[in-house]
Amino acid sequence: MGGAYGLRRSETGPCLLQLGGAAAMLLIRTTARSCWALQGVPRYEGATSLLRVAAGACTPWIPTHTHGTWSGSSHSGRSSWRRRATAVGALLGLGSALAYGGHCRQTAQAESSPQDTVLGPFPLYTREEVGRHRSPEQRVWVTHGREVFDITDFLDLHPGGRSKILLAAGGALEPFWALYAVHNQAHVRDLLREYKVGELHPEELTAPAAADDPYAGDPPRHPALHVNSLKPFNAEPPGELLGEHFLTPPELFFKRNHLPVPHVDPDAYCLKVEGPGGRTLSLSLQDLQRRFPKHEVTATLQCAGNRRSEMSRVRPVRGLDWGISAISTARWGGVWLRDVLADAGFAEEPESQRHVCFEGLDQDLTGTAYGASIPFYQAMSARADVLLAYEMNGAALPRDHGFPLRVVVPGTVGARNVKWLGRIWVSAEESPSHWQRNDYKGFSPGVDWDTVDYTTAPAIQELPVTSAITDPPPGATVASGEVTVKGYAWSGGGRGVVRVDVSLDGGHTWQVAEMQGEQQPPGQVWAWKLWQLTAPVPPGTTELDIVCKAVDASYNVQPDTVGPIWNLRGVLSHAWHHVRVTVAEE
Ligand code: MTE
Repeated sequence: MGGAYGLRRSETGPCLLQLGGAAAMLLIRTTARSCWALQGVPRYEGATSLLRVAAGACTPWIPTHTHGTWSGSSHSGRSSWRRRATAVGALLGLGSALAYGGHCRQTAQAESSPQDTVLGPFPLYTREEVGRHRSPEQRVWVTHGREVFDITDFLDLHPGGRSKILLAAGGALEPFWALYAVHNQAHVRDLLREYKVGELHPEELTAPAAADDPYAGDPPRHPALHVNSLKPFNAEPPGELLGEHFLTPPELFFKRNHLPVPHVDPDAYCLKVEGPGGRTLSLSLQDLQRRFPKHEVTATLQCAGNRRSEMSRVRPVRGLDWGISAISTARWGGVWLRDVLADAGFAEEPESQRHVCFEGLDQDLTGTAYGASIPFYQAMSARADVLLAYEMNGAALPRDHGFPLRVVVPGTVGARNVKWLGRIWVSAEESPSHWQRNDYKGFSPGVDWDTVDYTTAPAIQELPVTSAITDPPPGATVASGEVTVKGYAWSGGGRGVVRVDVSLDGGHTWQVAEMQGEQQPPGQVWAWKLWQLTAPVPPGTTELDIVCKAVDASYNVQPDTVGPIWNLRGVLSHAWHHVRVTVAEE
């Protein structure tokens, strides 16, 4: 009861591993025409229309600024369990990971006096009666299925924070659990059951709000993707498919969503750019396309959590269990952010300490939108190539990747590449967003959830050099005689990869791989290199421990092991990559 719970890898993705590249692509093309319905979930009209409204038009859409529930509360200096609960709770709203630590339960028992668990037959209530219990003064009741719970004593223990759980006061939990799907686990239901006070009248048992699914409007996805979390949708392609394409097909491009994908009507779409002196520029998609020159940049995007699963093998971490494929490359088409900022009235200020803040149109039920920021000097720099992109590999952005407009910040962690862009403003402060201030930061291996203080670490921006083996996959059997190893290598900040070393014997001896990629100017090498090495397998070898490591233009190298770079959120996992395979008998 009350043990940690988090998102687990789903097994929904079919295995394409046996397919070669051509066959796999054939499958992709064939299936692309059919509908990849996720599941027969009914629409959640309330939430979907909320998102539609948020998508707005060039008419007065004013984004809501309700960032306050999470940010800041982890530094409030309250008692330790409370800080922990809040920090963890911040994750709840993000759908990234969640833990109701055992300490929460224990604290509940020690510090509050939950009512005695009712064991006998329960009193029956109508929904109207439940609806009268909406505040701590009247006690807070909720329903789940036919059961009624008094959760007043749990309010302060809710990892997502009191304000989030109070949204459900007097009504059904289902719509909220549909949005924050990590709740839908047996031990969370067990925990809830401790607060049971009654049951709904049998006449009340018409289908409750289970029909409400804010993710019902999400787009169809490619079945080859390995799904790390369905709601919100987070998925990566199998390594072998990723390594086949210098430009990742958008269907296979990793998808990292914190919230439901918003519906945005391209004709009504409007980007608000807050300029100096309180002037706001409103740009439709057509304005952007007609008024500013189009530019294209080939850039790799990588999530800070890529390769987290290797870190969690050292010690558990919180976050989606990404393999090696939370990284992909596309040719992005759009307009320079600096052109748009200049149009709004900003001039280049190389010494500026200010920040350019971005807000997406995806919102949670409290109206909190995804947001992030980058330094102003970077946004305005002609060398940084920051794009407001409306195209991906020559076609309109797919919905999962930010349709109709997203930010692409080459060389910078995926989290700053805000999708479904709704608003831009310049500020002396970084974005107030939780994802800028209280997530996507690196810490020492010695920092744990009791001691972490997010104010002490800078937000991750440029990413370190990394590489991974995409083929053969771990556990494969390779032919004797000769083996071909394939993979990718990339570094942030425009520092191109200059060399990839591959070892077949766990790192004792090394050979240099052949790299292929696009020629990009020094300091602006935004795209990865795909690499390959074909090498003889020494006779009599039964197993290979294949290793790769890359070197970037600043001669940065990858650490050899994960342990010394372990951190509690499992970000920046970029040690040497190992794949162990069996050699077939000769
Ligand atoms: N932008 C919005 N509006 N909402 C999001 O959830 N996720 C961010 C970033 N931009 C996100 C967002 C993260 S953490 C990453 S890694 C990238 O988008 C992933 O981009 P992709 O889904 O196109 O691969």
